[in-house]
Amino acid sequence: MGSIILFGPPGAGKGTQAQRILDRTGQPQVSTGDMLRAAVAAGTPVGMEAKSYMESGALVPDEVIVRIIEERLTEPDAANGVMFDGFPRTIPQAEALDAIATIDAVIAIEVPDDEIVGRITGRYTCKPCGRVFHDVHLPLPPSGCPCGTFVEVRRADDSEATVRARLSTYHEQTSPVAEHYDRAGLLHRIDGVGDVDQISNAILAALGVE
Ligand code: AP5
Repeated sequence: MGSIILFGPPGAGKGTQAQRILDRTGQPQVSTGDMLRAAVAAGTPVGMEAKSYMESGALVPDEVIVRIIEERLTEPDAANGVMFDGFPRTIPQAEALDAIATIDAVIAIEVPDDEIVGRITGRYTCKPCGRVFHDVHLPLPPSGCPCGTFVEVRRADDSEATVRARLSTYHEQTSPVAEHYDRAGLLHRIDGVGDVDQISNAILAALGVE
């Protein structure tokens, strides 16, 4: 089995959907954003290099990203393919990935810019388990987080100004990646506005998962 890619602008719901479909596909989520945030928190050389790019809404250099992906794909749980979340984000990253992995499908989650700012500025995450919530759209249930130990975190790059910078980065540098996979016949466009479960079902149908 090859890998799948969850593609889309910031706040499209890539992380939200990855958590919902990973138990159905059996493929681990590989989020470059999560890996970079862990590196920043741990103060590793990669984290120190990535921090200022992330805070400004710019992309971390391709060579850094490709190196961490190459390392991640050597881990045993990646042997049967993974679910990439937030990678690749440039044509050079996509070309590097083509050389080291087989891609079965690319799911492009489409959400208009107007909706994205509200989604991201209302986002919070449970630190122990990584589940994603939203102040209005997807609040923490009254019974608490399913993991049982809710600790709220909000991302440093989720301010309105940085979201707008991330959106322009997406339109300039990342959206051409969709055409790369469309030409290869791998792209499935999914409407990312509406009920989260219905969007999950549309993604699973596109992947051919019963
Ligand atoms: P990264 O962490 O990948 O962020 P992103 O792509 O900007 O995506 P997000 O995590 O913000 O959004 P998401 O699509 O996962 O949405 P979510 O499910 O959380 O990257 C951060 C930074 O790292 C980049 O700016 C860059 O600097 C660097 N980086 C990472 N990868 C890189 C790479 N490959 N190359 C170079 N640099 C890289 O949902 C958002 C909110 O909406 C949540 O609150 C959620 O509850 C809510 N929501 C979800 N679905 C719905 C729905 N259907 N209706 C209403 N609300 C919804």
